[in-house]
Amino acid sequence: MLEVQTISKRYGETIALQNASIAFRAGTIHTILGENGSGKSTLVKLLSGIVQPDSGTIRLDGHAFSGPNPASFQAAGFATVFQEVLIAPDRSVTDNILLGLDGLLKRAVPRGERRGRAAGILARFARTEVPLDRPAGLLPLAAQQLVVLARALARDPKILILDEVTAALDFADREAVFALMRNLAEEGRLILFITHRMDEVMALSDRISILRGGQVVRTEERGTSSPAELLRAMAPQTAAELAHA
Ligand SMILES: Nc1ncnc2c1ncn2[C@@H]1O[C@H](COP(=O)(O)OP(=O)(O)OP(=O)(O)O)[C@@H](O)[C@H]1O
Ligand SMILES: [Mg+2]
Repeated sequence: MLEVQTISKRYGETIALQNASIAFRAGTIHTILGENGSGKSTLVKLLSGIVQPDSGTIRLDGHAFSGPNPASFQAAGFATVFQEVLIAPDRSVTDNILLGLDGLLKRAVPRGERRGRAAGILARFARTEVPLDRPAGLLPLAAQQLVVLARALARDPKILILDEVTAALDFADREAVFALMRNLAEEGRLILFITHRMDEVMALSDRISILRGGQVVRTEERGTSSPAELLRAMAPQTAAELAHA
């Protein structure tokens, strides 16, 4: 469904991604696993059109993106929840959730339907009560995380990219988000799941790609490698130290 082909991206001297190639299948949860600084969020930003590759191609259903920018990725059915929680602090929770649907000048969802729409989206995965009328900036981080997730889901994405979104969530919300991810994959959507947590990787992934120093070490099906083997591929140094200890 989606192919990243020999993508490279530098920031000055730093090589964030080097010749990275990954093929993603519809109907899967595809995990990107890698240490801090291995290039995960750079890949996420490339697949959202907010960062441009120095070289390489992104293809969707066989067609290359010609003008990769946020609008073209949104139009193609991508929605991304970024690692940094991006909210409009003074706007209500409802407005923040519907932000992805609203135009710059015009609200897409009429006034009388807005609360109900926002509540319906949250109800699909939020177990914690999120107050719809409060300014989103006043909420705790975990609730803000639920709001940005709801914003991505509001667009009914074909490809949902989640960059470390579960870090701040409590157990019940996290489990509910995982259940929703499975449902969305079963409906034929692609979920790109970025996480550090090996338990989440083993529980959720259909396929796993490992990034190390900006390079794709490998992509494999779930169950191919043990957690210890994945750790070795992702961080040989850390794995060796752990084994020694
Ligand atoms: N805007 C930027 N300017 C300069 N360097 C950057 C920029 N964004 C990322 N980098 C560098 O590129 C490399 C890859 O960063 P990236 O954020 O993609 O890693 P990551 O795998 O998401 O890490 P983390 O697990 O900490 O979120 C790092 O060395 C990082 O410091
Ligand atoms: Mg990151």
